[in-house]
Amino acid sequence: MEKREELYAGKAKSVYTTDDANLLVLVFRNDTSAFDGKRIEQLDRKGAVNNQFNAFIMQKLSAAGIPTHFEKLLSPTEALVKKMEMIPLECVVRNFAAGSLVRRLGVTEGEVLNPPTFELFLKNDALGDPMVNESHAQSFGWATPEQIEKMRTLTFKVNEVLAALFLEGGMLLVDYKLEFGVFNGEIVLGDEFSPDGCRLWDKDTREKLDKDRFRQGLGNVVEAYEEVGRRIGVEFRYE
Ligand code: TMP
Repeated sequence: MEKREELYAGKAKSVYTTDDANLLVLVFRNDTSAFDGKRIEQLDRKGAVNNQFNAFIMQKLSAAGIPTHFEKLLSPTEALVKKMEMIPLECVVRNFAAGSLVRRLGVTEGEVLNPPTFELFLKNDALGDPMVNESHAQSFGWATPEQIEKMRTLTFKVNEVLAALFLEGGMLLVDYKLEFGVFNGEIVLGDEFSPDGCRLWDKDTREKLDKDRFRQGLGNVVEAYEEVGRRIGVEFRYE
């Protein structure tokens, strides 16, 4: 497999074509962004940590029957994935109130959400990733009702698998964001699952172990990601 030209550079990952039209290489960079790209910093080791964290999670999800784009790790910071047609929506499940839900509805951070909520956001930095609904998705052609139903089912299935995995490591999966694509006509989980796109709190102390450390200037961002990985059994390599 040969890595060819850069297709696209996102805020934290770059995407390369390969000699196989169905496969892409994801390169996880150290860039860390918040507030829709308004703040970007380089954090040592973050690309390697997120790449290997994501590989570990994608393999767990795949073993639980959730189709993912992940093929294999290529290096500490690179992974081989299926080339998909991405759906421009972010699927968010929340088990506890935090972040934009607290700001939007004035509820208390940490309030248990039973049942967990499901929300859709349009992937558009210029607009600040606005919340949208199924009707918008259908009218604007972002996804069909069948695709949304599939994404909702898969996103909740991910919740079952990962909330249990993190709880075993003494952590609460507060909320997370997933992105899906279409491969061979099927809805498949894409992008990444890492502490950049979810909230994880220590179960007992409620210490934040995710990107809120960066957003809120709490420090030790990558150290917290490594701690999360260590607690669930990820073994990181840096070269
Ligand atoms: P929020 O509280 O800012 O709406 O975010 C909910 C969860 O989804 C949180 O874990 C962060 C994640 N998320 C992203 O990673 N990127 C995004 O663009 C959005 C909207 C949410």
